[in-house]
Amino acid sequence: MTTDGRPVLLVGASGLAREVLPLLAEEGRTVLGVLDDRYADLPPVLPPPYDHVPVLGPVSSAPDHPDAALLLCVGPSPVRAALRDRLGPSAGFATVVDRSVRNPAACGIGAGSILMAHVVITADAVLGEHVVAMPGVTVTHDCVVGDVATLAAGVALGGGVVVGPGAYLGMNASVHPGVRVGAGATVGMGAVVLHDVPDGETWAGVPARRLVPRPARVADPRRTTDTQPFRTAQEAR
Ligand SMILES: CC(C)(COP(=O)(O)OP(=O)(O)OC[C@H]1O[C@@H](n2cnc3c(N)ncnc32)[C@H](O)[C@@H]1OP(=O)(O)O)[C@@H](O)C(=O)NCCC(=O)NCCS
Repeated sequence: MTTDGRPVLLVGASGLAREVLPLLAEEGRTVLGVLDDRYADLPPVLPPPYDHVPVLGPVSSAPDHPDAALLLCVGPSPVRAALRDRLGPSAGFATVVDRSVRNPAACGIGAGSILMAHVVITADAVLGEHVVAMPGVTVTHDCVVGDVATLAAGVALGGGVVVGPGAYLGMNASVHPGVRVGAGATVGMGAVVLHDVPDGETWAGVPARRLVPRPARVADPRRTTDTQPFRTAQEAR
């Protein structure tokens, strides 16, 4: 389910774009193409099976497509936030909610968010704008998930959890009810978070504790697949 019928313009030729394209196809949504600042290094259309999607140019060409709804397809929260800021407040965004998502209490989901298969939102929760919730995320009662937060596959939030803007929670992390994960914080995959995580810190483990920052490794582009140029599944092996 997407929130309106406008054609969609993807921003970021990424792994997340590859995950979103089949959802848009399922809904019969028109995809105008993809914008990426690495467009000169990309083919004119994406490789099969995405070869219905042209690479149209850099992100700065978004205003050339005023009728399109933009969708930020970049996994890391800080990069997604930077793109949102570059595009400015006048940009219009699509919201993509996989048809298997359960949200029986019609909790609020902000513009530009992407909710993948089997996300469950129970009651009185709020998801901000440009939130990415990957498959199997559980958001229970009274949670507040800030703008541009990322919840990787299998994340489980207990009741009343607050996830700050731009926070990134790795796969299968569990957060104790009532706990706050700070703005821009990172929680490692598999973590069990029992206490508040301060803004900007990285916590991991069971129970989760602060990891000492290693800026050089965090900045290493090989540590993420999502900001690499678009590749076919075969090339990625
Ligand atoms: C927590 C995380 C961000 C740390 O990344 P990093 O800063 O590059 O950290 P490193 O890999 O250098 O590891 C630093 C230390 O923390 C440990 N560590 C890393 N991730 C851990 C985790 N999830 N749980 C427990 N310990 C972890 C490492 O073993 C290492 O310990 P050591 O110093 O004793 O050797 C990363 O490991 C992680 O979990 N990312 C989430 C990935 C994810 O779920 N992506 C989903 C999208 S596909």
